Amino acid sequence: MTVPSGPTANDPAPAHDPAPAHDPGPSEGPFDLEITDRLLATTRSVRRRLDLTRPVEPAVVLDCLRLACQAPTASNTQTWRWVVVTDPGRRAALAELYREAGGAYLRQRAESGLVGQDKRVVDSAAYLNDHLHEVPVHVVPCIVGRPEGRGPEGLAAFYGSIVPAAWSFMLALRARGLGSAWTTLHLRKEKEAAALLGIPDDVTQVALLPVAYTIGADFRPADRPPVEGISFWDSWDSAPPAV
Ligand SMILES: Cc1cc2nc3c(=O)[nH]c(=O)nc-3n(C[C@H](O)[C@H](O)[C@H](O)COP(=O)(O)O)c2cc1C
Repeated sequence: MTVPSGPTANDPAPAHDPAPAHDPGPSEGPFDLEITDRLLATTRSVRRRLDLTRPVEPAVVLDCLRLACQAPTASNTQTWRWVVVTDPGRRAALAELYREAGGAYLRQRAESGLVGQDKRVVDSAAYLNDHLHEVPVHVVPCIVGRPEGRGPEGLAAFYGSIVPAAWSFMLALRARGLGSAWTTLHLRKEKEAAALLGIPDDVTQVALLPVAYTIGADFRPADRPPVEGISFWDSWDSAPPAV
């Protein structure tokens, strides 16, 4: 089995926290579904409702990262790494890279006559593009190793060892009144971003998560296709049972 390469001599795994600040203790049974389902259904991509004026305490970012690192990794390699960018100059430079990389794409999408949910997404994405430097914290989830040369299983193990953790981070933010949006456009300038942030050559960035408190917390579930039409029972041509 191909797994992400482990820490190198120059990149030792950090010591484990003896007592995570938000250790909720052992699970005592089923969760409150009203709350957990709301968290899962309403963790949206937040762009226009990021509060660009309210500072984000480092402690809340670290608490969310501790929770994120409870996520699984292939062969338990625990090769997640996180670059948290708060320095205004570096955020501005990262935002500039994002705009250079994705600005034309976003403009072309905006001019392509989208309607409904797609138009709202592209308008929101354009707003983030213009204001990214003002978002108080940028988090770049990384994974030790490189994707080049891996086959389907290797790639699944590689990205599957960071994406669940990064999504847990976003859920933990939402539970605390903060928000983010999964973005990848800056990766078109991955090398420049790595140079800016001092990320070693053998480490892969997977996203750029702009982090801020949200303006209000009343996010709603998105329109999604009925799951009955996109899930298959036992084989690709069999519909799920009627329930
Ligand atoms: C792999 C991936 C890449 C994405 N890249 C970007 C991006 O570069 N910029 C952006 O504004 N949103 C990006 N998004 C956010 C999507 O546009 C968003 O998830 C989608 O429109 C659905 O909206 P929702 O997250 O609120 O349900 C990305 C999402 C994913 C999963």
